[in-house]
Amino acid sequence: MDSPAPDAAADLAAGNRAFELDRAHVFHSWSAQALLKPMVVSRAEGVHLWDHEGRRYLDFSSQLVNVNIGHQHPKVVAAIQEQAARLCTIAPQHANEQRSEAARLITELAPGDLDKVFFTNGGADAIENAVRMARLHTGRHKVLTTYRSYHGNTSTAIQMTGDPRRWANDGGATGVVHFFGPYAYRSPFWSDSVEQECERALEHLEQVVAFEGPQTIAALVLESIPGTAGILVPPDGYLAGVRDICDRHGIVYIADEVMAGFGRAGEWFAVDKWSVTPDLIAFAKGSNSGYVPLGGVIISDRIAATFAERVFPGGLTYSGHPLACAAAVASINAMRDEGIVDNARRIGQDVLGPGLRELAERHPSIGEVRGLGVFWALDLVRDRDTREMLVPYNASGEANKPMADLMAACKQRGLVAFANFNRLHVVPPCTITDEEAKEGLAILDEALATADAFSAG
Ligand SMILES: Cc1ncc(COP(=O)(O)O)c(C=O)c1O
Repeated sequence: MDSPAPDAAADLAAGNRAFELDRAHVFHSWSAQALLKPMVVSRAEGVHLWDHEGRRYLDFSSQLVNVNIGHQHPKVVAAIQEQAARLCTIAPQHANEQRSEAARLITELAPGDLDKVFFTNGGADAIENAVRMARLHTGRHKVLTTYRSYHGNTSTAIQMTGDPRRWANDGGATGVVHFFGPYAYRSPFWSDSVEQECERALEHLEQVVAFEGPQTIAALVLESIPGTAGILVPPDGYLAGVRDICDRHGIVYIADEVMAGFGRAGEWFAVDKWSVTPDLIAFAKGSNSGYVPLGGVIISDRIAATFAERVFPGGLTYSGHPLACAAAVASINAMRDEGIVDNARRIGQDVLGPGLRELAERHPSIGEVRGLGVFWALDLVRDRDTREMLVPYNASGEANKPMADLMAACKQRGLVAFANFNRLHVVPPCTITDEEAKEGLAILDEALATADAFSAG
């Protein structure tokens, strides 16, 4: 069901004004401000967005891969409205119904003994606080994270990030040590099979731990499926191997499920796919699809016990905000009642996976298709034999033209996708239907001709 279209002339005027005010006064994330020309979104519903000219777009980005339940889910909207009428905000030292229920639901979904939740405003502060807990719990300082990762834009989280967003923000002395995770298609270990990649990645990690000094390492922080870095689904056995290394050296294993969690990978948490239980889980995005900002850390009994009699030195004015928690409660219940996580898993298996692999047969620019659930990447290449990337790592301007052209071709045909370097990510809401997914694949099929033009195949 589409939401009612506003009056066309008024909508156009409102859009123009929003654009002008944006360019005059809004300072955007991660951007050279003068080069920006943001799309002005008028409204959204389900898997669709509308601009102020009344054009409809299929949202294959879920925005920043966070709108897992789709736009304007009526039950979540109603829960926010009801909560707003009753209690908009309350200080974090008080208990409130919505926060208590959200914590109960989240710990019920989490694996093992992860029984408590510290709520934050988003993903970066979830990571920040998880690391603080691990440092205090172990009395150690160092943190291991992977190259090809993103953990957020606060000081510790950005130092931990393994992509170019760290470079300008890296002050050096942080105690963060980066290592390589598995990436069979572009193996840092010269492996020639997924099994070998897994074995060598674990051996590499073992060596990093040994050379850094296990007694100095508080935590290992790992995206269960590195997301923005390329949807690098780990080989079977890798996360279990990481769990084992952490156990043997008393290192706290923090799973960053900010992007991979809450249905994105066709599981409530991506670690569930491999039956691995971390010590802490950082979550955000899909927990309430960003209807109101929310994140948090799910804490194991062992780590919670450290702070039973000792103060946890951390807090936020909006920790457990009632509107955000009401949205989480409604969202989790709706996802359960409507089988939305199962839908994501099935769509991945039956429609997106086969559909994208079929595109790879026709489009020489597709080097690899990988993913699961509603979490897919096309690794685009200039040459399938050499696997030369369609655009260089961290390309911008003219060097990024092939990707910019591809994104523009998608948008022209009514599809909003998500691109990072040489990859196009197919990451629609978990609620997408077979027909909508096929419609998006058909648009991609046409748009990929622009990428093929730069590719020797
Ligand atoms: C894996 C991962 N961790 C952490 C973050 C940071 O979350 P936020 O932007 O809500 O602070 C992100 C954001 O994209 C993410 O993808």
